[in-house]
Amino acid sequence: MSGISSLWQIRYRTDAPKDLPDNPVLQTLLKHHSVRAYLPDALPAGTLEAGIAASSSAATSSNLQVWSVVAVENPETRAKLAELCGNQKHIEVAPLFLAWIVDLARLERIAERAGKGSEALDYEEIFLMSTLDVGIAAQNAVTAFESMGLGTVYIGGLRNHPEDVARLLNLPPKTVAVVGLCVGRPDPSAQNGYKPRLGQDVVVHRERYTSANEAEGVAAYDRVADAYQQEQGLAPRAWSETVASRVDSYHGLSGRHVMKAVLNRLGFALK
Ligand SMILES: Cc1cc2nc3c(=O)[nH]c(=O)nc-3n(C[C@H](O)[C@H](O)[C@H](O)COP(=O)(O)O)c2cc1C
Repeated sequence: MSGISSLWQIRYRTDAPKDLPDNPVLQTLLKHHSVRAYLPDALPAGTLEAGIAASSSAATSSNLQVWSVVAVENPETRAKLAELCGNQKHIEVAPLFLAWIVDLARLERIAERAGKGSEALDYEEIFLMSTLDVGIAAQNAVTAFESMGLGTVYIGGLRNHPEDVARLLNLPPKTVAVVGLCVGRPDPSAQNGYKPRLGQDVVVHRERYTSANEAEGVAAYDRVADAYQQEQGLAPRAWSETVASRVDSYHGLSGRHVMKAVLNRLGFALK
């Protein structure tokens, strides 16, 4: 598989527009797929450092640089994290686990050393901005790792038990691990494919937002997603039904509906 047009075809299962730009960065991005089967091999020297340099190079709101990352290689800690994240075995197998942290504690310490207050840190706006910055930083690392031929999978399960994670990783108040990332060499004997995505006719709104043709676009995607499921030997399913069930009630949040209270206890006032 190579060339931007064939990668487009795999991602959307529609013909690519003519004259798409094509370069190695675009190809790396379009080839993304989560990896959940890893070889336990250690990562080449410099892997973590190069990945984090990509994160550090990302844009960051007001240059506040509000993220930290805890790099966990210790197998016992990874086993404990696997359990806390809903028994996700790949966390135990992949040699590196990155816990991405919204870190307002560092800003608080900096303000304190400068003899200033840190009232602004208590507002929801800062938390929203920080989670966005963490996501941007993490995704740069993902692309960097994938460009090195490594595989990754984000772990939202890290938010299943944020206070236990905080204890395990020695996180101070005003920090929270918002997402994890497994990094490792993909096991070539057990790889899933490239999951199709909603068409651009559904997600791109030209000049003004509209949902006029959405039902049609989603129905087309349901057919594509179902075909992918079957190719992967998985049970047939309509994507729209799956996601609708997911949002039907707070039970779809897998116990995380208590997040606001948890964040308050971790030191985020969220005013
Ligand atoms: C923030 C975030 C959290 C995720 N959490 C998990 C997780 O806990 N476990 C997992 O196996 N995959 C997780 N994923 C991976 C998604 O399931 C995956 O990206 C999605 O199904 C699309 O598949 P693809 O990445 O292979 O294209 C997460 C992805 C994101 C962006």
